[in-house]
Amino acid sequence: MVIINKADEKNLKLLSQIIKDGGLVAIPTETVYGLAANALDGHAVAKIFVAKGRPQDNPLIVHIAEKNEIFKLISTFPKKAEILINKFWPGPLTVILPKSNLIPDEVTAGLNSIAIRMPNHDLARQLIKLSGVPLAAPSANRSGSPSPTRAQHVVNDMDGKIDAILDGGECSVGIESTVVSFLEEIPILLRPGGISADEIKETIGNLKIDKAVFNELEKGSKVSSPGMKYKHYAPKAEVILVKGKQEEFINFANSILGDGVYILCFDEDIELIDKNAFSYGKSDNFEEQAKKIFSCLRKFDDLNAKIVYARAPIPNGVGLAVYNRLIRAAGFKVVDLNKNNKK
Ligand code: TXA
Ligand code: MG
Repeated sequence: MVIINKADEKNLKLLSQIIKDGGLVAIPTETVYGLAANALDGHAVAKIFVAKGRPQDNPLIVHIAEKNEIFKLISTFPKKAEILINKFWPGPLTVILPKSNLIPDEVTAGLNSIAIRMPNHDLARQLIKLSGVPLAAPSANRSGSPSPTRAQHVVNDMDGKIDAILDGGECSVGIESTVVSFLEEIPILLRPGGISADEIKETIGNLKIDKAVFNELEKGSKVSSPGMKYKHYAPKAEVILVKGKQEEFINFANSILGDGVYILCFDEDIELIDKNAFSYGKSDNFEEQAKKIFSCLRKFDDLNAKIVYARAPIPNGVGLAVYNRLIRAAGFKVVDLNKNNKK
């Protein structure tokens, strides 16, 4: 496996050749690192699923370098989708649209729709251009683990399983793109992300929020996005999400500390917790929380944590995406200190 630290013309050409030859390259984007292959080559794309241990029925996002590259990938282009991408591309927005016949079934897991994104990262777009093809890329983590926001995270998960990593430093957004489906009359938010639901509503009006954003899916229920079915973002330790005001949280945290027990909290809490506490930002700074959350979750693996109690973020703005990642990391296990108080 080659690790490229210097993104000069020669090295980018080398990486694009790996893509053209059907290989796998981990690339930086503004959201998280992606594990990229030629989206037009079903055989190459199949290798992504093997490297990640990803379930076959979970489709991939196709990444493009220019807005107009979308046309050959889709069969219809609703006006609202066009307005949204004109506002937010390049950026952390993925749109789901009816697909054309260009993209092989390996990418879309046999669905009639396709997920497309134009990343706001120069190196990612340069590599797409040099490769001359769109790139299919899921997050470059082992399936089920926290997404990688640094090249080292990709090395930890993927060493020996992929051909190359392009190190572009730390990802600026830190959580994945917002996924919006345009398959029905009213657009549906399938995954909250770097662009908030409010920003989308301000741009295109009505937006449904899929119930899987907040809740665990009932067994056997129909899913709008296959990724919602699976365990996600989890470190090796058990994670439990804790809801409650600061004072209650601090008391709770200090009362349960013990061997292998760790606390994930806000900057304001850290001094008040006796030990083993890490912060993922200020309580009201959702962008900061987004940027730090995955590397915090990964840190608990390095520390051999057995259990992590994580203070729940306020689910407003980009905070909704942070909340969504944490409740999934916790497998929907929640301690609600507010509820205990009411009893
Ligand atoms: O920010 C991101 O979106 C990153 C970077 C690398 O671009 N990528 C990423 O990919 O998060 P991944 O594979 O980890 O998540 C893609 C999500 C999955 O939940 C998948 O089920 C959903 O998008 N998805 C893909 N195609 C879909 C489709 N046709 N219909 C519904 N959901 C789809
Ligand atoms: Mg992922």
